[in-house]
Amino acid sequence: MALHSMHTHTCGELRADHIGQTAMLTGWVRARRDFGGLIFIDLRDRAGLTQIFFDPELCVPEVFATAETVRPEWPILVEGEVRHRIEGQTNPHLATGEIELLCTRIEVLNTSKTPPFQIEDHVELSEDMRLKYRYLDIRRPKMMANLKLRSDFTFAIRSALHDRGFMEVETPSLFKSTPEGARDFIVPSRLQPGSFYALPQSPQLLKQLLMVGGVERYYQVAKCFRDEDLRADRQPEFTQVDIEMSFVSQDDVLAALEEIFAAAFAEMGVAMELPLRRMGYWDAMDTYGTDKPDTRIGMELHDVTGIFARSGFKLFSSAAADEGRYVKAIRVPAAGAWGRSKIDRLSEVAASFGAEGLAWVAFKEDGSVQSPIAKFISETEMDALRSEMAAGPGDLILFAVADRLGADEILGGLRNHMADVLEIPREGHDFLWVVGFPLVHWDGERGAYAAEHQPFTQPVEADIDHLESDPLSVGSWTYDFVMDGYEAGGGGMRIHNAALQMRILKLLGFTEERARAQFGFLLDALEYGAPPMGGFALGLDRVCMLLAGSDSIRDVMAFPKTTSGSDLMSDAPSPVSDAQLEEVSLKVVG
Ligand code: AMO
Repeated sequence: MALHSMHTHTCGELRADHIGQTAMLTGWVRARRDFGGLIFIDLRDRAGLTQIFFDPELCVPEVFATAETVRPEWPILVEGEVRHRIEGQTNPHLATGEIELLCTRIEVLNTSKTPPFQIEDHVELSEDMRLKYRYLDIRRPKMMANLKLRSDFTFAIRSALHDRGFMEVETPSLFKSTPEGARDFIVPSRLQPGSFYALPQSPQLLKQLLMVGGVERYYQVAKCFRDEDLRADRQPEFTQVDIEMSFVSQDDVLAALEEIFAAAFAEMGVAMELPLRRMGYWDAMDTYGTDKPDTRIGMELHDVTGIFARSGFKLFSSAAADEGRYVKAIRVPAAGAWGRSKIDRLSEVAASFGAEGLAWVAFKEDGSVQSPIAKFISETEMDALRSEMAAGPGDLILFAVADRLGADEILGGLRNHMADVLEIPREGHDFLWVVGFPLVHWDGERGAYAAEHQPFTQPVEADIDHLESDPLSVGSWTYDFVMDGYEAGGGGMRIHNAALQMRILKLLGFTEERARAQFGFLLDALEYGAPPMGGFALGLDRVCMLLAGSDSIRDVMAFPKTTSGSDLMSDAPSPVSDAQLEEVSLKVVG
């Protein structure tokens, strides 16, 4: 550590090797303990804790008198000699636990009000409190470690990209509204009354234009803005490591990305075995009930429609008779021992994923079978079920009856729920690609086709013929990077032909005029020799959350917002003055 006018070391740095040396430290008082005429102060900075010792016999009276006045969270400067802690006082759990600083000089740099909470990791706090006093929360070692982890990972991935010839290019935050799926945040223009910028949902179009410009290998650690409903893994303002390449095939992009990920994760002590697994979208849906599977938790989905084709249980047999409807099942270990009412309560969970009811069969430890539908199921069917599901005593079978995706989603939701409830262990990290998403899906609410990834995705060439006649069957060159059951990133190959891009926009419900008004600059650029291109964006917040072992991206963001989009510290968003509104020609109504 470089010498500094106020300290020679950090509070996490001094060891037995430094004994006998003079050191100067700065930091915050974590605690002061007075013991029979001696004073101990635990001094904390971002690197750790050091014990400071004051002995009235070994320092001048002013120093001791000052030490007696300091209180928690005052920033101070201390100087003295590093010495071994006395017998019985060493602390093996602390990096600096062998030594202490025998203080001969102390300067109070500021005082502090009593903080609203104790600045310790083990103190349970409401998140509102943490966010209101975020600057104090950040002083807690865990938050500091999270910010450090994020800084280290960002640096590692930047350097992995830089080393491979990727160029970081910044793109504007004040741009045009170019919807990619979410709602835009808009910014009024003072100079052009009635006109608005939009904050980018991602640099998607701009990076495509950089490819037209010949940048060839681009990246950016980019802030993105989306006005959507917030969750533990979603913030209105978040960060992507955004990447794009040109003159490449999908395999080239995936291979380059894998190398970059492996290099960056290795810097964080996480080994990634290459090549990563690639799972087709439909395989992921049919086997795990989700397009972001955590493959560590077992409980794969089985299609048991055939078993019940002639069943006395009409719900199952009529599904079997109806093309397009399925009976699917998962086997949940250990939950077979649950009582009937506890199992029945799972139907509420199933309902939240779209189920109309929940059929189940519990195989009891004593060999008996308990199930509200057992009386309708023949012995042959039960045997076939047992064998298909490899079910044994203690297992619970949960069923879903719906169309293909509907059944997948119900069981996918139950599978994750049961893994959490049963605390199924998840060792290490689980990385994979999900590839080949459909190009579009039907958005019932809007009554239109919607892009599965985004409107600029390249359809599979062989499917282009039936783009208009059977859009749902059109495949796309797309891929999601899945980490521990989260969508940690996504990307695809892009359309680089203006006519095809217009066709897709029309399929998505744009008139030619509206497509031109919104995406004219892209359509124009595609006509000037746009190269084949593809790319990807990594959700930096989500990856850091998973590396930090947390379940909320707010834990790896310095100043996140609440689920209602507020900043509790500054009270944003907040009203602005009439004068400010007038400047941008706006009036608040209602
Ligand atoms: P996509 O919309 O999939 O792709 O976003 C990429 C990744 O960003 C993360 N992410 C979020 N993280 C926190 N809060 C949010 N609100 C949020 N929304 C998304 C996810 C997601 O996988 N332009 C394309 C990428 C491309 O095709 O190159 C895009 O933005 O981890």
